[in-house]
Amino acid sequence: MKKINILAIETSCDDTSIAVVKCSGGVNAPKFEVLSNIVSSQIKIHRPFGGVVPNLAKREHIKNLPKILKLTAKNFDIKKIDYIAVTVGPGLEPALWTGITFAQELAKKTNKPLMGVNHMKGHLYSNWLSPQKNFKNIFPSISAVVSGGHTMILLMQSSTKWKKLGETIDDAAGEAFDKVARMLELPYPGGPEIEKSAMLGNPNAIKFPRPLLGSLKDFQKNYNFSFSGLKTSVLYYLRDHPNASKNDVAASFQQAVIDVLTQKTLSAAKQYKAKSAMLSGGVSANKTLREIMRRAIENSGKKFFAPSFEFNTDNAAMIAAAAYFDLLQKNPPLKFEADSNITI
Ligand code: KG4
Ligand code: ZN
Repeated sequence: MKKINILAIETSCDDTSIAVVKCSGGVNAPKFEVLSNIVSSQIKIHRPFGGVVPNLAKREHIKNLPKILKLTAKNFDIKKIDYIAVTVGPGLEPALWTGITFAQELAKKTNKPLMGVNHMKGHLYSNWLSPQKNFKNIFPSISAVVSGGHTMILLMQSSTKWKKLGETIDDAAGEAFDKVARMLELPYPGGPEIEKSAMLGNPNAIKFPRPLLGSLKDFQKNYNFSFSGLKTSVLYYLRDHPNASKNDVAASFQQAVIDVLTQKTLSAAKQYKAKSAMLSGGVSANKTLREIMRRAIENSGKKFFAPSFEFNTDNAAMIAAAAYFDLLQKNPPLKFEADSNITI
């Protein structure tokens, strides 16, 4: 299949992003050249509220999108685009709509075809964006997609065929990081703050529960997650130990999440005789998680992949990669409507 340039737009949460990615190689040898990937973070705007305020996110996306498009057009001739792709869900509906409307207007102006993309597929394919990786002979693969809104484990038979083995039954891992950070009076977003604090603490200081790990021993293996109980244990611990070291709490909480994610991914990889395992989503930015999971997977003789740091948290380049796979498979088009509940 010939080379195609995809301009992608991502506004599902609090990052406004536009990317242009040159895609080639087809399903068996996909190649992505990220020509531009501009991400404008709104952290400073939402920080005083301790989380993302959907209508503020919408306002900022509306402000940022034309500016980012202008910057993109400086580096790339927009006329050379073959497709425009936009995230339609899951995410915050007011935020999603800004991207969808902007993409529709751009498609009309440029007379280019427009496609809707699933944000979670974007995270899944973010692993393919780094050119130096060797993706030969990696299937079956276990893919852990761990973000602020979702936590799931997929069994991938190929780059385009997968089955969901499990997902969170309550809070997502990133959400738990954000909520525990708030309990520790750390600013939003909590994940990077907990990671910083955890570096100064002892991960074995407090034995927090490892939710649903026992279920791995069951005959029918259970790859679901539950982080709400862990979050509540941290709350009770802080209530009962007002003088506890915050760094120890952060490190012990982080270790509990890492143990659950790593052991479930490893166990699934063994059960399904996977040749590799992958990690993606915002939580995959956590260096301790990446290293512990990498060691566990590589020690079991399998390959391990995690996206380059610029592609862990929300970005439009990953949306372009997912759009390319959708095009290759001739997947039925998604509606141009914000859909906060769409899944993969
Ligand atoms: O994928 P993402 O950017 O947005 C969603 O699709 O949800 O993920 C954001 C989540 C937030 O909950 C954030 O706290 C978490 O990823 N996160 C981290 C780290 N960086 C971001 N969690 C743990 N450690 C990090 N370094
Ligand atoms: Zn995301």
